[in-house]
Amino acid sequence: MTGIFDPLDIRGVHVRNRLWVPALCQYSVFERDGVPTDWHLAHLGSFARGGAGLVMAEATGITPEGRISPHDTGIWSTAQVAAWRRITDFAHTQGAAVGLQLAHAGRKASVWPEWGSPAKGTMPADQGGWQTVAPSAVAFEGYAPPRALALDELPDVVAAFAAAARRAMDAGFDLVELHAAHGYLLHQFLSPLSNHRDDAYGGTLENRARLLLEIVRAVRAEVGGAVPVFVRFSATDYSDGGWDAEQTAVVAGWARDAGADFFDISSGGLMAGVRIPLGPGYQVPFAEFVRTSAGVDVNAVGLITDAAQAQQIVESGQADAVMLGRESMRDPHFPLRAAHELGVELDYWPPQYLRARWP
Ligand SMILES: Cc1cc2nc3c(=O)[nH]c(=O)nc-3n(C[C@H](O)[C@H](O)[C@H](O)COP(=O)(O)O)c2cc1C
Repeated sequence: MTGIFDPLDIRGVHVRNRLWVPALCQYSVFERDGVPTDWHLAHLGSFARGGAGLVMAEATGITPEGRISPHDTGIWSTAQVAAWRRITDFAHTQGAAVGLQLAHAGRKASVWPEWGSPAKGTMPADQGGWQTVAPSAVAFEGYAPPRALALDELPDVVAAFAAAARRAMDAGFDLVELHAAHGYLLHQFLSPLSNHRDDAYGGTLENRARLLLEIVRAVRAEVGGAVPVFVRFSATDYSDGGWDAEQTAVVAGWARDAGADFFDISSGGLMAGVRIPLGPGYQVPFAEFVRTSAGVDVNAVGLITDAAQAQQIVESGQADAVMLGRESMRDPHFPLRAAHELGVELDYWPPQYLRARWP
């Protein structure tokens, strides 16, 4: 039986366990230049030190316009690559694998940072905001309307993801994750509720998935055969006529055939004001469904907060790994604690902290 402390090899990358940290936006680039800061080093570094197998760095703009807010990290400049390199080097000294979530926020871009802002929602141009883009000119409720991307602009989106993946490699990341969840640009293309196009990128499932699959292929070509490519999906819009688990499973299979390796299964984010049935492990059934029906490797995420729960999810085969977001922020050493609770001996306690081991 496979447990959370069993390692996993994904293409050329060895991951020491299956307790991972998902992308967690920090809105901490106060210079607005997309360059990660000391905060990001301490934040991501603490998870690496705390024993996580994989640490996924936050949703990072592939272009300035792809950022959710001006305080997001980016991966379009050489200054960003150099700053990320310091963080990936540190994570590697701690034995963690580190990934970068490549993101374009589409119609949910150009908003005030989640904390420390004088307002919520769309940031006006005179405060540093910008015109957003989307598959169709349909606004996210309460946000400024986006401009529909023209057909001849889509190759630029593909190229921007591929260039970002190349820079992620230069910055020392072990893998990349394409953010196709939470109502951001790629999810906007996937869902019939936000994609009303009548060209080759709208309508049928094949058409709505086309942009994502083109990006998977381009990123795979860019990073070569040894680097894992993850895709994060929202498995449902929780809305009638929207994106759902069946479509997620079908497109995950296609994405695997196009060169993706691992699927990070989340939910929601496309529509405002929907009821999400929150509870312990509430998204685990979606991960299990995608894993069994598409035959792909998945991680579960969402209100996974204790060692026995995490162990049960992996041991029962509902998911190949788990990601813990808020619990990791509360306790960056969660994997060290979980090992103690489950009676597992780890050979990667940070030597500086050996005297803090539980007796
Ligand atoms: C502060 C914060 C920032 C987040 N930023 C991102 C992000 O950058 N990309 C993403 O895909 N999800 C993001 N999420 C969602 C988390 O990755 C995760 O899916 C969610 O918090 C549910 O897991 P949890 O219950 O273990 O926290 C964020 C969540 C929080 C709380």
